[in-house]
Amino acid sequence: MAGQTGLVALVGAGRMGSALAAGWLKKSRNQIAPEHIVFVDPRPSESAAELAERHGVRVAAQLNKALAGEVAELVIAVKPALVGEILAPLKAQLRPDVLAVSIAAGVPLRTLGRALPGRPAVRAMPNTPGAIGKGISVCVANEAADAPELRARAERLLKPAGPVEWVEDERLMDVVTAVSGSGPAYVFLFCEALAAAAEAEGLPRKLAQELAVRTVAGSGALLTSNMGDASELRRMVTSPGGTTQAGLDSLMGGAGLPGLIRNAVAAAARRSRQLGADTN
Ligand SMILES: NC(=O)c1ccc[n+]([C@@H]2O[C@H](COP(=O)([O-])OP(=O)(O)OC[C@H]3O[C@@H](n4cnc5c(N)ncnc54)[C@H](OP(=O)(O)O)[C@@H]3O)[C@@H](O)[C@H]2O)c1
Repeated sequence: MAGQTGLVALVGAGRMGSALAAGWLKKSRNQIAPEHIVFVDPRPSESAAELAERHGVRVAAQLNKALAGEVAELVIAVKPALVGEILAPLKAQLRPDVLAVSIAAGVPLRTLGRALPGRPAVRAMPNTPGAIGKGISVCVANEAADAPELRARAERLLKPAGPVEWVEDERLMDVVTAVSGSGPAYVFLFCEALAAAAEAEGLPRKLAQELAVRTVAGSGALLTSNMGDASELRRMVTSPGGTTQAGLDSLMGGAGLPGLIRNAVAAAARRSRQLGADTN
């Protein structure tokens, strides 16, 4: 891409890292030229190795001093527990203006700041559908990264996973984690429960599963197609006194689905806060 002033180093070329990199390398988007990317991973995933081979992206087991000095943007996509130890030896080698973008779940800005003092850092939370470009990422920037140009650079790196939103208060990342981070699992559970209920009512297992999966996937597609928001769409498909109304009455009455979801999000946010405190 024009204006790229150094390398984009992807530290951790696993599932999410290679999904992001696949987006950077898409010709149609004219994103980042392969010669401006380096994968840093002692054992890159199969998809990362394939990407590197196809596009001629450099792969390094670790960032040596010479390579580290060329890095303009460091994307950290290793498991959260490894972030501190992987960044520690890089502190002295990276440029003072390197932009660090970490997608490691739950790793706070203060950990990034401690590992890379003075550098602009962005903590991002993408989610699992991001691996196929259908996710959403929420970011928070440290003080050094609090500038439109730096935010735009971080967004460019995250856009392959889906749209990018920002929060100003890092504490909100616990809620983000509980909603979009953990949310796919809630939806998968709903899908499992719908299939199990279909089977319990007499449908063969295979058909029950197909109906549940396509209902969840199709409804998700409708939600993102600008045909209306969730409650509008729900009202559209619910005739008073009909079958959907009977089902919804059961889901929404008493301690129904809205209350359960409220509790689930609160519990996940609480757990995220606990895990964050443990990394202090
Ligand atoms: N997947 C998601 O949907 C998702 C969503 C939100 C956030 N995240 C975050 O993204 C990060 C990566 O998740 P993932 O699912 O992509 O995990 P992953 O597939 O395990 O990828 C991590 C990669 O880092 C490699 N690695 C291990 N030690 C390394 C080192 N010293 N230097 C460089 N690379 C090293 C791993 O190699 P080995 O496999 O050989 O150890 C692996 O290839 C995590 O922090 C996670 O919290 C992921």
